[in-house]
Amino acid sequence: MKILVTGGAGFIGTHTLVELLEAGKDVVVMDNFSNSKPESLARVKKITGKDFKFYEADMLDTAALDRIFEENPDIGSVVHFAGLKAVGESCEQPMRYYTNNISGTLKLLDSMNRHGVKKIVFSSSATVYGLPKSVPIKEDFPLKTYNPYGETKLMTERILSDIIKADPEWCAVILRYFNPIGAHSSGLIGEDPKGIPNNLFPYITQVGVGKLKKLRVFGDDYPTHDGTGVRDYIHVADLANAHLKALEYAEKTVGIDYFNIGTGKGYSVLDMVKAYERITGKTIAYEIVDRRPGDIAECYADPTKAKEVLNWTAKYGIDDMCRDADRWQTNNPEGYTK
Ligand code: WQD
Repeated sequence: MKILVTGGAGFIGTHTLVELLEAGKDVVVMDNFSNSKPESLARVKKITGKDFKFYEADMLDTAALDRIFEENPDIGSVVHFAGLKAVGESCEQPMRYYTNNISGTLKLLDSMNRHGVKKIVFSSSATVYGLPKSVPIKEDFPLKTYNPYGETKLMTERILSDIIKADPEWCAVILRYFNPIGAHSSGLIGEDPKGIPNNLFPYITQVGVGKLKKLRVFGDDYPTHDGTGVRDYIHVADLANAHLKALEYAEKTVGIDYFNIGTGKGYSVLDMVKAYERITGKTIAYEIVDRRPGDIAECYADPTKAKEVLNWTAKYGIDDMCRDADRWQTNNPEGYTK
């Protein structure tokens, strides 16, 4: 059976394609290139030596979605990455985020249902936990979001839960990502944010290659070991493997389940700066500035459930993440150029 990967040209999407193709899976890919470039898919083919069908299509285009399922009747499941994902941007453009992430996902689920495809692995986020009452975070912690981006993730989880209550033939495996960073060890694919990176690690690697001058550290007065924000950084290759394990789980079950995909370890902003400098020998100039609105002090996973149910644990550590991210950024200072 084939797997449809929506948003397959993106950061997590490309790394998951490599994982699936190298595991011998047949994939069909769709992407609208709104936040990615065709070169990323060419690199996936170069890494794996495998080919796959690609559709440049938007989730809001029902006819395009139907065409994909009609032309590929052997699609048995979907890995759904496609979506807008910048927290700050979602606060400025809520309508765009709800239209794209919710209406787009509803059109995808409707087309799946009409074509009898009832298995989905969904790209959710630790952001659904909002301000966690404590750390490490377990899957049964209270859910609360504070921005439209996070709201679209939580709403989609609830939509899937209601679909499954109405039709128990459906299966949804929801992966709540913590902070994905790093790159494939080849240096051919990696994180390629548009414009100035919102996230910490691509900002650090761009300072490392001289594309940006100085890192602004958003606050050093948090109740953490060094005052800067603590997060659970996970190598994108480990995250990709979690999707393979989730698909294998989805193929033998029905219903809905949720998994924290993190390492279970928290590192601060300054820990990450020091690790990157140690691994690469480069210096990261930084300045402590005010806190970023909406940031929390600490967020890291309890990944026990993914280990017990999916037989998944993170293999890579911070040093691997720094080494691989720097190789990608050094080889591709301007990211994908076409
Ligand atoms: C990490 C730490 C910042 C940038 C977000 C989304 C989440 C997911 C991952 C999509 C924090 C600090 C950051 C900078 C800094 N996105 N920082 N200077 O906020 O944990 O999570 O990205 O799925 O849903 O919420 O990640 O990398 O932005 O921040 O000091 O220039 O780095 O304050 O402590 P975050 P981040």
